[in-house]
Amino acid sequence: MNNNVVLIGFMGVGKGSVAREVVKRSAYVAIDTDDLIESMENRKIKNIFQTEGEEYFRNIEKSVALWLESSVKNTLISTGGGFYKQENLKNIGIIVLLDSPFEKIIKRIKKHPNAKNKLKKRPLLSDLKKAKKLYDERRPEYLKLADVVVDVTDKTAQECAKELLEKVKKNG
Ligand code: S3P
Repeated sequence: MNNNVVLIGFMGVGKGSVAREVVKRSAYVAIDTDDLIESMENRKIKNIFQTEGEEYFRNIEKSVALWLESSVKNTLISTGGGFYKQENLKNIGIIVLLDSPFEKIIKRIKKHPNAKNKLKKRPLLSDLKKAKKLYDERRPEYLKLADVVVDVTDKTAQECAKELLEKVKKNG
């Protein structure tokens, strides 16, 4: 295998924050699929969704997924909340799910000093009723794909990162 760790989980669960803490405590270099897409397209995800639609975005995710599988090793990869749908996900690396109940995730976002922006930049979070439905659809799929699950509820990013590294080590 290529020794990558692939972080999956719902929007706002803290994939980026946990990834940054993992980097501090390990030799991993981290990348983020949303960041890659924004730099490839030279525009924000929100803008891509608005002007091109979701399908266009998913197609870029697909090219990123194929590249990750063929060309990336020993890396911590944070993914957008819908990236898990990529068919080759399991070939990219060990899959780590950051898990938390929907209400806790929303609470976490709202607590953030930059909460407004966090909600605004995620098109699929603009309607919380729809977002809850999406969460309910996705959660069983996330669980099915995960090699490792880290319950992040009421834990700091540091605690989650520590747990993640311990569990990945055991799994590998
Ligand atoms: C999406 C999640 C977002 C981003 C896009 C679509 C999704 O990433 O990829 O807005 O389908 O759940 P985050 O999970 O980092 O918010």
